[in-house]
Amino acid sequence: MKGEVLHKPVLAERLISLLNLSRFAHSKLRGKLIDATFGLGGYERLMTELNLDILGIEIDPKTIKEAEKVVSGFRRSRLSFRIVQGNFRDIKDIAKKENFEEVDAIIFDLGVSSFQLDSPSYGISFRYPESPLDMRLEREISEIKASDLLNTLSESQLTSLFAVVLNENLSKRIARLVTETRKKKSFEKVKDLLELVDKLGLKKGKLHPATKVFLALRMAVNSELENLKSALPDSFSLLKKGGRLSVISFHSGEDKIVKEFFESLRDRGFGNLLTKKPIAPFEDEILANPRSRSARLRVIEKYD
Ligand SMILES: C[S@@+](CC[C@H](N)C(=O)[O-])C[C@H]1O[C@@H](n2cnc3c(N)ncnc32)[C@H](O)[C@@H]1O
Repeated sequence: MKGEVLHKPVLAERLISLLNLSRFAHSKLRGKLIDATFGLGGYERLMTELNLDILGIEIDPKTIKEAEKVVSGFRRSRLSFRIVQGNFRDIKDIAKKENFEEVDAIIFDLGVSSFQLDSPSYGISFRYPESPLDMRLEREISEIKASDLLNTLSESQLTSLFAVVLNENLSKRIARLVTETRKKKSFEKVKDLLELVDKLGLKKGKLHPATKVFLALRMAVNSELENLKSALPDSFSLLKKGGRLSVISFHSGEDKIVKEFFESLRDRGFGNLLTKKPIAPFEDEILANPRSRSARLRVIEKYD
């Protein structure tokens, strides 16, 4: 199936097992699952034997078009789908509108997909120097592109933006260089930011030196941490008793938000932490799919 080539789902077997979804394989009972970051339905490809009603939420219209093709390939499975274009920040309203509450499980697989990283038009990846420096996933609603942030934020705002991912000193250096550079020429294309990263003279490690600079900017353009913070409590409230909320994060800032929220639920006696420590991919998964390297999975169960 095409989606298989476009995005390999991360930590899939352990996610499906921790969500306890196999109980819907043999019973007449149908389960309800919200996939809040539907992408190309990578996890659902592994669930075709399950009796599940699925509400998929996906922010990106281009991805939705691809996802619809993927879903049409599931026609003969036991899955039934509703795919909604929207921001998971609005998960409660979306679920209410779709009459899809009291659910058994919710999945968040954060960030962007390989399909998006490998498409030049998003301007997310430093591998496409001629792409506009855009990075928006929600283009119809959001007007502020990555280049706009670089061209207009103050030096101290830029420092804070980069410090979400990079250390304070490096963030300050980048912010200073951005403000100096834009006096001569504004940021328009991916290559403009790549040239700036070159000037930093960072050592080449396992990661390309531009990786974290681009990540910080993408997270800011799409308000990724803010969306996550507001979606988690609403998601927990959508679970039925015994329902499970799962999050796969790819960055320590995201994982910290999830960890603190889940621990506060446990401490207040609302939920049972099923992952005392976050689950990371095994070496063989990282070898087969290097993008899984930084994935961390946490799952909490709502108490009966
Ligand atoms: C890592 S990919 C998920 C891939 C998916 N699990 C699969 O196997 O195809 C993350 C997806 O979430 C979407 N996304 C990111 N932020 C979102 C948000 N705030 N609301 C809804 N979808 C979002 C992205 O557009 C992307 O398609």
